[in-house]
Amino acid sequence: MRRIRFFSTAEEVAGADIEKDIAVVADVLRATSTIVTALANGCKMVLPVEHVQEAREAAAQYAKDKVILGGERRGKLIDGFDFGNSPQDYAPEAVGGRVVITTTTNGTKALVYSARAKESLVLSFLNMSAIRDYIIEKDRDVALIAAGIYGKYSIEDSVCCGMLLHELIKLAPNDFCFDRNATDVFKVSRDYIGRVDDLLQTSPHGSFLRQINYESDLAVCARVDAYPIVPLYKEGYIKIIEQ
Ligand code: MLT
Repeated sequence: MRRIRFFSTAEEVAGADIEKDIAVVADVLRATSTIVTALANGCKMVLPVEHVQEAREAAAQYAKDKVILGGERRGKLIDGFDFGNSPQDYAPEAVGGRVVITTTTNGTKALVYSARAKESLVLSFLNMSAIRDYIIEKDRDVALIAAGIYGKYSIEDSVCCGMLLHELIKLAPNDFCFDRNATDVFKVSRDYIGRVDDLLQTSPHGSFLRQINYESDLAVCARVDAYPIVPLYKEGYIKIIEQ
């Protein structure tokens, strides 16, 4: 029986013992949706970093035409960066063959905190089934990590994790046991099955993105299983696992 724990913010997992687990990180609006999109569109790898200056210094290690410096603070483009954090920026012709370096308010912090796990995977609604299938084939415990927003609960990140639980139980009903937080998020996410677009359109962060003219990102991030890829975060980089 494999244990699944759920952490509702990056800060919650900071001190947890996840070294033997498969970590799965979700920041649906928009860090992990954007990372999955960039990789699906042909970028070589993604380097998530916590701080803006760190991102600038990392980008300086590459030839200008081989790297994209992207991310956001308060949802908006960072001064001097190539792209913000809209998945729509990371089109094949923009990212193909390049390294993407990204720093965001919450998502990259959650990823960095997950790095000490045995494996760390990048989850969004866009690659839900691919992550499900990968986990089912493994025999490790799982640490589900919702990035959250400024250290607080994020409904869309939590429901994305909860929906993965529903997917896992559908295919392997007897393989997993949940901690209390996972049981709670399993129950909460039941109401949103088949209603991901509504979830994102009505979420507080979705409303914020609408206010700063990124409303079109909401439907883009709601496309369930648009990209059947499993991004693995290892040794500081995120690459697609070739299966
Ligand atoms: C985050 O890190 O919380 C998100 O990337 C923020 C955003 O893209 O608006």
